[in-house]
Amino acid sequence: MRYVLGISGLYHDSAAALLGDGRILAAVQEERLSRRKNDARFPERSIRSCLDQAGITAGDLEAVAFYEKPILKFSRTLEVFLGWAPRGGRAFARAIPDWLGGRLDLRGRIRSSLPGLRAECSILFTTHHEAHAASAFLASPFPEAAILTVDGVGEWATTAIARGFGAGVEPLEEIHFPHSLGLLYSAFTAYCGFRVNSGEYKLMGLAPYGEPRWVETLLEDVISLHEDGSFRLNLDYLDPLAEDHLTNARFHEHFGGPPRRPDEPLEKRHLDLARSIQAVTERALLGLARRAHEQTGSAQLCLAGGVALNCVANGRILREGPFRKLWIQPAAGDAGAALGAALAAWYGPLERGGLAAPRTPGASDSMAGGFLGPEEMPQAVEAALKRLDAVWERMDSELLRERVVDALIAGKVVGWVQGRMEFGPRALGHRSILGDPRSPDMQSRMNLKVKFRESFRPFAPAVLAERSAEFFGISGESPYMLLVAPVADAQRIPLAHEAEGLDRLKQVRSTLPAVTHVDGSARVQTVDPERNPQFHALLKRFEARTGCPVLINTSFNVRGEPVVGSAEDAYRCFINSQIDVLAVGPCYLERERQPHAALPRSFEAIPD
Ligand SMILES: [Fe+2]
Repeated sequence: MRYVLGISGLYHDSAAALLGDGRILAAVQEERLSRRKNDARFPERSIRSCLDQAGITAGDLEAVAFYEKPILKFSRTLEVFLGWAPRGGRAFARAIPDWLGGRLDLRGRIRSSLPGLRAECSILFTTHHEAHAASAFLASPFPEAAILTVDGVGEWATTAIARGFGAGVEPLEEIHFPHSLGLLYSAFTAYCGFRVNSGEYKLMGLAPYGEPRWVETLLEDVISLHEDGSFRLNLDYLDPLAEDHLTNARFHEHFGGPPRRPDEPLEKRHLDLARSIQAVTERALLGLARRAHEQTGSAQLCLAGGVALNCVANGRILREGPFRKLWIQPAAGDAGAALGAALAAWYGPLERGGLAAPRTPGASDSMAGGFLGPEEMPQAVEAALKRLDAVWERMDSELLRERVVDALIAGKVVGWVQGRMEFGPRALGHRSILGDPRSPDMQSRMNLKVKFRESFRPFAPAVLAERSAEFFGISGESPYMLLVAPVADAQRIPLAHEAEGLDRLKQVRSTLPAVTHVDGSARVQTVDPERNPQFHALLKRFEARTGCPVLINTSFNVRGEPVVGSAEDAYRCFINSQIDVLAVGPCYLERERQPHAALPRSFEAIPD
């Protein structure tokens, strides 16, 4: 077999991915193994895990691909910083040790991290957006498609349109730094008191509580959206050099005050800002989608880049955009670019160091349901639980499902760890916390007692694919939880009156209150038996007992923690939160029977 390794990292969300004869064998994000959220270090652990999962060594690799061109990125950093002297000079002085400390000599870094790598193994570098585009198109089921990649920034590009055909990706247009939808969204994330690069989901979750009253101001003063789908930011209001806040005094004055500190309460102003930047982002993305359609004439669109995790915008692109079909890389952020780099190397032309393999897309995508991470065998799970003095019962999978469904019906919260770990930010039923979506107080209970996070944040429903249309206005599948769709009319409960702001959270809007957002929408995961057999079987059992084919599915972690990887991570998280039941591999554990009140955490907490 011919093996290609892809690597991303040294900025945020480091990861590695391994192909064998073009098939995706393994992909892991470093944070899941190192237990440091958004870990940006060189992904030593992920690389080792990928090689171990395939049972190979570095000596078996034919090519290694990195997701960026370091020299090009360095020259952008240099040019931007020096162009904005003297402030830029200071920012540059902070950044330069990083570059000199190994970001420039990546070839050397890769060789030293992969002892045994053969001299003839090629090491190649894609651009950042080439890697995103490859992760979107070359893993998709489409033989041809338009490709749109949108993020903060790579080398220079922040937005790119390309055309995918066969095994090739042809770049068509780019928008360059500092004009960036990702940076603009992050600027509002920071301004509303959330962390850049991880708080963007929170801002998106907050948006439906607000009014879009800043939209016109934003469009007049901060971003201009052009007829052709392109856009420009007004740098009088933004500070792209300040990676942690991105806004300046003029911005603060314009939008009604200083940035919110994380410990300050959320005011109506923040809700309205969240709603407004979300609306502007959606409008910009619809414009870009139209442009990609015009440029390619394709009826199919592939999306990647961090902004493609904006599932509300994705739902609108599918419903209102010019494309018939949409495929979004589930690891749309920079972790997925490791996979993109590997795919670009495997299918890429020989003259650019690629292996020029032919591509025959299948009926489904090539992501194996997103389950590309490591899995612990039952003996290893039991050994870990024993080490931790846990109390468990081992049982066959049928009994395990029955006991878990008993617990769910009794209103308990269940930690569910089965099979290979997900690649990408969403837990898809292999590292999940589950609950009964019919319960009206489940959303705030799970948020506050289990995940220790803000009560406004909605949960997502996992629904049996074959019954998804009865519950959600979704045509087709959404196996990666990347689309937001309206809850079906038949499930809606009309309200006598609409409350204001965050009080809207308490109003019951559907038969599935715990997963129905205040605007009547839900971030849907459709679960089918081919990709996700164990989780499908559990949903089937819950349906047989209750008539309801839906469960709450949220990632298995607490605030500030990466999603759990191993049985040990899962047990620690279980003990330290209010999760009632843990089902890990063949083992069933109840909270009351455990000898611990608390355990040392398995992760480095990062403040929000
Ligand atoms: Fe990116």
